[in-house]
Amino acid sequence: MLEKDDFFPIGIGTYKLNLEDKENTLKGLLYSVEKGQNFMSTALVYDNGRVVDFLKEFFRKVDREKIFLMAHLERYIEKLEDVEKQVNEYLTKMDIDYIDAVQVHASYVSKIPLAETYNQINELIKKGKVRYISISNSSLEELKEINEKFGVYSFEGVYNLECKLNENIGIINYCKENNIKFICYQALRRNRIANNNYPLLTELSEKYGKTQNQILLNWLIKEKGVLALIKSTNKDNIDSNLESLNFEISIEDMNKLNEFKHKGFDTVKIDWKETGKGVLIDQLANQF
Ligand SMILES: NC(=O)c1ccc[n+]([C@@H]2O[C@H](COP(=O)([O-])OP(=O)(O)OC[C@H]3O[C@@H](n4cnc5c(N)ncnc54)[C@H](OP(=O)(O)O)[C@@H]3O)[C@@H](O)[C@H]2O)c1
Repeated sequence: MLEKDDFFPIGIGTYKLNLEDKENTLKGLLYSVEKGQNFMSTALVYDNGRVVDFLKEFFRKVDREKIFLMAHLERYIEKLEDVEKQVNEYLTKMDIDYIDAVQVHASYVSKIPLAETYNQINELIKKGKVRYISISNSSLEELKEINEKFGVYSFEGVYNLECKLNENIGIINYCKENNIKFICYQALRRNRIANNNYPLLTELSEKYGKTQNQILLNWLIKEKGVLALIKSTNKDNIDSNLESLNFEISIEDMNKLNEFKHKGFDTVKIDWKETGKGVLIDQLANQF
């Protein structure tokens, strides 16, 4: 079974997998695995459960122990039993025996105190249905609480050139100090960062002879030391993303990327508790 040190730097995202063309989607996922990508994240909310249903085909074709699977608990956890119920649903739908890490999609999803939900996940570890506790879209205080009580293995959160919230509020640093893998989603913001054609990125792209997305991924993985979760079932995009690991960016240029600021993201008010005032943390990446 895979452990943190075995993680490939780029993981397999599953949001908006194309289920109209299951054959090619499956081929794309298997191609990623063939190239070494070995951790995957999924959620029951994706396409109303159809993505998780489809992944049964994927797990039939791969060696289960060679994939680290993370799954989200979805809205809402209203009572303790909901935790095992959702975990069982994943296991049944994908016809697998265990999930490597289970995480609450965003803390507001848990209508019972977050620690009680994580205590239930901990119980499922004892039953062998789950291996580790992960966390997603939480505040630093919540991360600290859950880590101190149960031990957190990985954190799935938004982080990219434009949206540096998880760095600004201290999550990335806390993860580093506590040996928690930080896995960033929307690393490319679904190609929207490249589409913005920032002069810094177009210049670096020309200088290094790489695409803007390759510059972004190289910076995230080599400079920031985080893992990137990317959805792609297109072989050209998969190859291009993997190629981002194979070149060096100078310290001066890395510093320019470190200093890049997006005025909009820095001023968004986050609605951590789903009060209706502000932007839900899991919707932040979709702003602008
Ligand atoms: N925890 C959370 O709240 C949360 C939130 C959002 C996402 N996630 C997870 O993170 C994963 C990644 O996020 P995401 O899918 O939203 O965004 P993303 O990975 O930034 O972007 C995916 C989109 O970009 C395209 N793409 C991939 N590589 C490309 C490249 N090199 N050039 C141009 N286009 C490229 C993909 O199309 P092709 O397939 O055609 O390549 C796909 O349409 C999700 O799939 C999901 O598993 C988690």
